[in-house]
Amino acid sequence: MKQRFDPSGPLRGRLRVASDKSISHRAAIIGAMAAEPVMIRGYLDAADTNSTLTAISELGAIVERRDEELVIRGVGMRNAQPPLEPIDVGNAGTLIRLLPGWLAFQAGASATLDGDESIRRRPMDRIVQPLKLMGARIEATRRRYPPITVHGRPLHGIEYELPVASAQVKSCVLLAGLVTEETMVIEPVPARDHTERMLLRAGVPLRREARRGGGYCTTVSNTDELELDAIDVPGDISSAAFLIAAGVLVAGSRLLLEGVGVNWTRAGFLRILERMGAIVLGEVEPAGELTALEPTADLDVRSASIEATTVEPEEVPLAIDELPLVALLGCFAEGETVVRGAKELRVKESDRIATVVEGLRGLGAQIEAAPDGFRVTGTGELRGGRLDARGDHRLALLGAVAGLASREGVEVAGFEAAAVSYPSFASDLEILSKR
Ligand code: S3P
Repeated sequence: MKQRFDPSGPLRGRLRVASDKSISHRAAIIGAMAAEPVMIRGYLDAADTNSTLTAISELGAIVERRDEELVIRGVGMRNAQPPLEPIDVGNAGTLIRLLPGWLAFQAGASATLDGDESIRRRPMDRIVQPLKLMGARIEATRRRYPPITVHGRPLHGIEYELPVASAQVKSCVLLAGLVTEETMVIEPVPARDHTERMLLRAGVPLRREARRGGGYCTTVSNTDELELDAIDVPGDISSAAFLIAAGVLVAGSRLLLEGVGVNWTRAGFLRILERMGAIVLGEVEPAGELTALEPTADLDVRSASIEATTVEPEEVPLAIDELPLVALLGCFAEGETVVRGAKELRVKESDRIATVVEGLRGLGAQIEAAPDGFRVTGTGELRGGRLDARGDHRLALLGAVAGLASREGVEVAGFEAAAVSYPSFASDLEILSKR
């Protein structure tokens, strides 16, 4: 499906963006591990998070959809039922990387996880390696790729330093660590901490300490039961980022985005924007703080003229999914915008260094790829044209925002990919375009 996004008049109004994808995945998985029912308000209704609901149902959890909320009746920590068929994770990287942390200790049960064409290219050795160190038995295709099969076994604790700054890997090891005497994850560069918050909330004896030289050490230990009663999922800052960028780039815009999650480990994009000269108002919590709750804010966005910036490697995990938007903003900024230390972008839903560079260049951008990022020369405008989403939801949404800010508009081929994280994007845009 192709969709056109034409140059836009000022975007104005207020709304609540799509709910947080990362937190929704975690709420469903941790809800399935709990013995008592968990009520989730604001669960994201999108392709990725629906794959997670199907997956936990196949493992024996009961999912009840009510008007505004979802109730998950979990099976308890150790009672996942062996699924009859391979579990289809669709496009969901977070699902295929987190779920094995739980499956790894379901003694006597085996489960195979598979997904779409893009999932079959995502590296799984990053979770297979630490889980094997804990005593798990896992088979992966060519030792690295889905489909993977997890055979439940008793696990033992490890001390594991993350070789890549990945919240998915950290989360997987922490979930597996819940049945060990003690498991420590060493995180030299901080990544999103939603799992830690939800586990704290569920009564897990979890400790996080700042590490000399930067980053954190997080420890979990034996937990008999997870106790969560209700979870509120905030708006997704990664989805909000598309509307924020549109509001900044389209002259005369003023948006209020309500109830957006502004956990410091997710809000790197707001700090990058501030350096570029676009002030998005809203209180972000202090760095380092770990509480059981996710902070939220109403974000007040206005159009602004912007300057180039450099995104340094340690900032990358805190804004990883928003880096394609930094490239787009760079086209309109004065000077050269550089992103470094982001080679992880090459193993996302697409090779996002290649697809962003190819996509924006096709619209008239002056952008060069590097092995670990890109470099954009700002020209203050973008011609427009056609962009292929390449099956990647964030590329589809990037093309849409590029169209609104361009001279001639953008036709996005494969726009349906947006349904992975933000199915209501086009209708939200309509609300903000009405004058
Ligand atoms: C996510 C972590 C990030 C991010 C992904 C969601 C999560 O991936 O890019 O969209 O929910 O934990 P990595 O853990 O691979 O960095």
